[in-house]
Amino acid sequence: MMGKEFAGALARFPHLTDLEVRPELVAICGRRLQPEVERWFRSIAPGIELATRDYREILARSDIEAVYIAVPHDLHAELYTAAIRSGKHVLGEKPFGIDAEANAAIRAAAAERPELVVRCASQFMYLPGAQRVARMLEAGAFGRIIEADLGFLHCSDLNPAKPINWKRRAETNGAYGVLGDLGMHTLPLPLRAGWRPLNVRALLSDIVTRRPNEEGTLQRCDTWDNATLLCEAVAPADAQAPAHPPEHGAEPAAGYAGQDEGAVQRFPLTIRAHRIAPGELNSWYIKVLGTRASAAFSTKEINRLWTLDYEPGGEQAWRRLDLGYESCFPAVSASSFEFGFSDALLQMWGAYFEEVVRGGVPRERFAGCFTPEETAVGHALFSAALRSQREGRVVPV
Ligand SMILES: NC(=O)c1ccc[n+]([C@@H]2O[C@H](COP(=O)([O-])OP(=O)(O)OC[C@H]3O[C@@H](n4cnc5c(N)ncnc54)[C@H](O)[C@@H]3O)[C@@H](O)[C@H]2O)c1
Repeated sequence: MMGKEFAGALARFPHLTDLEVRPELVAICGRRLQPEVERWFRSIAPGIELATRDYREILARSDIEAVYIAVPHDLHAELYTAAIRSGKHVLGEKPFGIDAEANAAIRAAAAERPELVVRCASQFMYLPGAQRVARMLEAGAFGRIIEADLGFLHCSDLNPAKPINWKRRAETNGAYGVLGDLGMHTLPLPLRAGWRPLNVRALLSDIVTRRPNEEGTLQRCDTWDNATLLCEAVAPADAQAPAHPPEHGAEPAAGYAGQDEGAVQRFPLTIRAHRIAPGELNSWYIKVLGTRASAAFSTKEINRLWTLDYEPGGEQAWRRLDLGYESCFPAVSASSFEFGFSDALLQMWGAYFEEVVRGGVPRERFAGCFTPEETAVGHALFSAALRSQREGRVVPV
């Protein structure tokens, strides 16, 4: 699925108007690459020189500079580390390793090749509404953060007849279940803003425990369907402070909560990743409530941003703004056109290739791709969430 989305984004790459890079798709790989699938790829990427079922053939080509890897989670560590060791820039899909150990192995390989741009795919930060919230965070517009809600909700698993696939098996999707699948997408924006979860009480549900396989035989579906994480989080006291979150596992560093009463930014953060959220097709949302401003955005109303500006003693009124095509990377689209899922993906690809050209340095803080270090915070959070569910208590992250 995501390989095709990638090829589609690349075909549309010239839609982005101010980038000095023009990626070309020259090789594709799939474990069981079928002739009709290969034909489809060739129809939109006529420059394809190599179509193979063995990824090592791609890694052996010295003229291929970068690879995108979208495979089941149990293969992330093997393929990502092999690609990095072969000297390719890598954009790997989330969760960037099936578990914390696999994630650490990928990060270790990346650390050995600092000249390569190794990043994790996640496109939601590039949505216009998300960018607006990011800029408000950067400007410290919220004042003290009162509370924040992030989430990513799907509904198709409500259908018990939906066939099982690798994403619904712990062996291939990972013990995180929905957290490794949808949950990771909630994190790039808050982590880039410098937020950090300190602890978590996780409530995980396995709602549909069996699903039919392609032949109709019921099989054990052993992944968590829904996850609600109640966290205590910190944000940097100075919104301009760190571009990246501090080392996880350590006490909040200088600039974080605790050192100055007036600047304390400890707040409740709720993260929801649900595969069974009735009526929610593909809803990614963020809501931040603050003492000076609040904002809410959801892909359910993709063109719409809600904000509330507050002066002490003044009125409290939510304001609704239609956004149009506002983007980090300018595109040919008119600013009044609505922005969609494939536009966010295209922006992410613009961000990635620009980082490749600029040696890993994004043009601005919220235009940069999700880094391996940021994914490590996600893995620490999700590992703590599993423990919290098991032990029925709050667990430090
Ligand atoms: N960014 C997003 O919005 C988004 C959406 C869906 C999935 N994903 C992520 O993308 C990744 C892939 O998900 P998908 O939905 O595209 O899955 P998919 O099942 O549609 O595709 C997986 C592909 O991996 C290939 N594959 C498996 N083993 C291989 C091997 N040894 N060598 C080469 N190819 C191999 C298969 O041939 C298949 O084409 C996952 O990490 C998933 O979490 C991201």
